Amino acid sequence: MKIIVTGANGFTGQHLCITLANKGFEVHALGRGPQRIAVHNQLTYHNVELTSVRSVLRVFDSVAPDVVIHTAAMSKPDECDRNRDACLQNNVEVTRYLLEASRYFPVHFIHLSTDFIFGENGPHSEYDEPEPLNFYGESKLMAEKLVQEAGVVNTIVRPVFIYGPVWEGQRPSFIHWVKNKLTAGESIKVVTDQQRTPTYVYDLCNGIEQILMFKKEGVYHLAGKNILSPYEMAVTVAKLVGLDAKLIIPVTSAEFPEPVQRAKKSGLRIDKAMAELDYAPHGFEEAVRLSLL
Ligand SMILES: NC(=O)c1ccc[n+]([C@@H]2O[C@H](COP(=O)([O-])OP(=O)(O)OC[C@H]3O[C@@H](n4cnc5c(N)ncnc54)[C@H](OP(=O)(O)O)[C@@H]3O)[C@@H](O)[C@H]2O)c1
Repeated sequence: MKIIVTGANGFTGQHLCITLANKGFEVHALGRGPQRIAVHNQLTYHNVELTSVRSVLRVFDSVAPDVVIHTAAMSKPDECDRNRDACLQNNVEVTRYLLEASRYFPVHFIHLSTDFIFGENGPHSEYDEPEPLNFYGESKLMAEKLVQEAGVVNTIVRPVFIYGPVWEGQRPSFIHWVKNKLTAGESIKVVTDQQRTPTYVYDLCNGIEQILMFKKEGVYHLAGKNILSPYEMAVTVAKLVGLDAKLIIPVTSAEFPEPVQRAKKSGLRIDKAMAELDYAPHGFEEAVRLSLL
């Protein structure tokens, strides 16, 4: 099975490429600029700027993929709000180009979306009405619609607040930021009044593997099983690593305003994935231990 993974230099993309290559799939990793994932003999890296439709068509022609896993995105909500044209280009138009290229092959298109397509009153199920609160969420919802209307076999996967191990060259996820700050003896302010269901990146990779192996179509929420505030996550990290949790200062969203609106009560329900994919994510504490220790 030939798999194209976009966003291969990104946090999820790197873990996904390595996981699938280790399982023996022929992985074609599409990244921008030089390769930032470890070299692997089952993995072929292609430097592709996805906003160029010609480059996209060319790489699809040379690979003739069976599966496309689209993780590439402008994934920071604040940046999307500041640069709306670039956000539309990278999150919506790129998805359009990939779908266009997919039409020439019998492709299963697996699209990474987000809990940010929803508003308040989470955790949300796959059957809840989208109501994005910021431009990033809007752009990801537009991309979902393109995928669903493209006439290709497709699956939409929605994770939440992804974390996991990092290696050199990767940007630290939230748990590493907490660890690094506390190790340096610096205090940090972390919000108490937002809820999330953080996703361990290897649970996400395993869920995606089930989806492609069993050709599952539709929408699947692949998130964690614990509902936590960022403050609770930070305290868990401190305790596990043996750092001073008193350096973590609890604040409310009102005391710590962010440039774009985020839902307070977010998170995703995973009952469907647990029932249909045998999805059995790690607990947050266990996954943090696996990521940091
Ligand atoms: N991180 C989370 O907590 C989270 C939560 C829910 C959903 N998601 C979704 O999950 C997916 C993966 O997220 P992530 O955090 O792993 O993302 P990430 O680390 O920001 O990686 C995204 C990758 O996409 C690449 N990319 C963006 N535009 C491109 C273009 N025009 N051409 C080529 N490459 C391009 C970026 O390239 P550069 O490295 O060159 O910039 C980057 O390597 C995204 O679709 C995101 O919306 C993420």
